[in-house]
Amino acid sequence: ELGEYRHFMLKEIFEQPQSVAATLENRLAGDHVLPSLLGAPDALEKLAQVEEIQIIACGTSYHAGLVGRYWIEANTDIPCHVEVASEYRYRRQPPRKNMLFVTISQSGETADTLAALEKIKENHGCMATLTICNVAESSLTRESDMSLMTMAGPEIGVASTKAFTTQLVALQLLMVLLMQAKGADKARVEQITADLRKLPALIEQALDLNPKIEVLSERFIEKHHSLFLGRGELYPVAMEGALKLKEISYIHAEAYPAGELKHGPLALVDSEMPIVTVAPSTGLLEKLKSNLEEVRSRGGELYVFADREAHIKADDSLHVLEVPHVPELLAPIVYTVPLQLLSYHVAVQKGTDVDKPRNLAKSVTVE
Ligand code: M6R
Repeated sequence: ELGEYRHFMLKEIFEQPQSVAATLENRLAGDHVLPSLLGAPDALEKLAQVEEIQIIACGTSYHAGLVGRYWIEANTDIPCHVEVASEYRYRRQPPRKNMLFVTISQSGETADTLAALEKIKENHGCMATLTICNVAESSLTRESDMSLMTMAGPEIGVASTKAFTTQLVALQLLMVLLMQAKGADKARVEQITADLRKLPALIEQALDLNPKIEVLSERFIEKHHSLFLGRGELYPVAMEGALKLKEISYIHAEAYPAGELKHGPLALVDSEMPIVTVAPSTGLLEKLKSNLEEVRSRGGELYVFADREAHIKADDSLHVLEVPHVPELLAPIVYTVPLQLLSYHVAVQKGTDVDKPRNLAKSVTVE
């Protein structure tokens, strides 16, 4: 089953062009997203009434939700909140009007996520429930009014990779459906739909960085700590990159929104501290570049995944890996790939059990 690959994780990273294409297949019409993908005949009418969204998930799926919030709030007028299920389920929820409750889960069986869904249903705390899920016959799909299936196929590696990027694709589809339901500008919808079609090819290009990342990864083997930086919707991507490194290489990794550095973490920076940054060409690029200068002047070792056109100058302590230019909305998906590869190669060189990291289970079905 592994074919040419040494681990399921690597195989699953390389399957992403296909799993993303499968998640888009039969869901895009010429210039819009087909509402039938939610599996409910009245989906668009329901979405038209939504005044607020609550996203609930755990781990990697939670990071997908965080990216989703940036996208939804940037492209619709619907406020969107995101919380980890283990916190949400145990606190009081003030009543909300016309809220869509969205769970995100690869397995569809995560105990805390299911419990949060059950709680909201018992309290009649929302107008509709929707799950973004990878397993069709799962508890979450059964218990939700609507399902948006990710088509990642079975994910064997405990570290989630293709499930995450397909969740992001699903969140884009949901965002576009919300835009359509709320009567957004048709040209904008058409543009996003057209960009989505480019995604599999862009992921292929990101995968071409693999040999370079493998070489770079050697510099992490002796490290005990690392920082991951991003801004805007790339901040949750940095969080996901840090989680990957932690869980399979056992190197402590912490993600920060780059603008927060001087509020504390800058004190950690010295020549021993690797700092990984994702720098696509977005409205926040210039701000990010000045954050990188702050790190550089403290002697930090920077590893920057940057847009070809970002013009970030490499030197002895600043390593730049060029990523193809991508439409802004697709950047979180494409920039996830090099971070997955980085943690994979670091873990392989450290000799950890990449597909079954210590102390972790693929599906967390108990609290
Ligand atoms: O199956 P789920 O998406 O609900 O699982 C949630 C988390 O346990 C999961 O995303 C976990 O964080 C990843 N395996 C980490 O790579």
